[in-house]
Amino acid sequence: MIEGHVTRRAIGTTANRRASRSWWDSDADAYQKEHGDFLGEVEFRWCPEGLTEAEAGLLGPVAGRRVLEVGCGAAAAARWLASQGAAVVAMDLSAGMLRHARRSNSQTLAVPLVQADAMALPFPAHAFDIACTAFGAVPFVDDSEQVMREVYRVLRPGGRWVFAVTHPMRWIFRDDPGEDGLVAEYPYFDRRPYVEFDGDGTATYVEHHRTLGDRIRELVRSGFVLRDLVEPEWRDGHEGVWGQWSPLRGRIFPGTAIFIADKPGYKA
Ligand SMILES: C[S@@+](CC[C@H](N)C(=O)[O-])C[C@H]1O[C@@H](n2cnc3c(N)ncnc32)[C@H](O)[C@@H]1O
Repeated sequence: MIEGHVTRRAIGTTANRRASRSWWDSDADAYQKEHGDFLGEVEFRWCPEGLTEAEAGLLGPVAGRRVLEVGCGAAAAARWLASQGAAVVAMDLSAGMLRHARRSNSQTLAVPLVQADAMALPFPAHAFDIACTAFGAVPFVDDSEQVMREVYRVLRPGGRWVFAVTHPMRWIFRDDPGEDGLVAEYPYFDRRPYVEFDGDGTATYVEHHRTLGDRIRELVRSGFVLRDLVEPEWRDGHEGVWGQWSPLRGRIFPGTAIFIADKPGYKA
């Protein structure tokens, strides 16, 4: 995010989707240049704190499971899942991000890629055993409950949904990794999205805040059972800065919330 023309204001679904698509298309090269090494090409990293699926095991066993990665970006996580024996599909809204996924597919391990909106997943009911995302789609749509409903639909009974988002408490602070980002400034209960806009007033970047209660409510209303909420801690020796994530802030308060939820029903 770049603090330029910035505001908090409501935004409709169409304008939101248009802003997200064009932002991630035009930012894709810069995103991969800045974060590609940290993310890896065949690696599942949940968050800027560095937690990997290999160490955390939040998805449960993946070998032989059908897994959907939502908002995959360059699809490094999907490739790691495939390397562990999962049958993976990776989807994203942005052609620019998927271009990086295709390039990485051709150089490492190929996974199927689908361009779609997470609010309308182009898959039949019960198509997957597991769905997951590290910061994909959920914070970037005006109706994240619709994403929950869609993921619920495409999971089979007993399926698991794990998603990582910016920890809700981060929204009370300035988007700043330094000292200025340590002072509470914005109301936690202000759900109006963060919007960057151009000279014409057209939204160019949109990101949405939900409180912890909102996130849980959206899951429960969609039919999920919440199993856990993981707040990865900043590790000693990790000096990496990713946007507003920094060692300074990470040592004081959480930056990421990872929700682990199950669709009720049979377990394999
Ligand atoms: C912060 S990036 C995360 C990408 C990847 N998961 C990672 O860890 O690097 C957010 C991703 O969400 C995607 N995205 C945004 N809105 C989306 C939507 N409505 N449906 C699907 N993907 C979306 C963006 O295109 C982008 O690739």
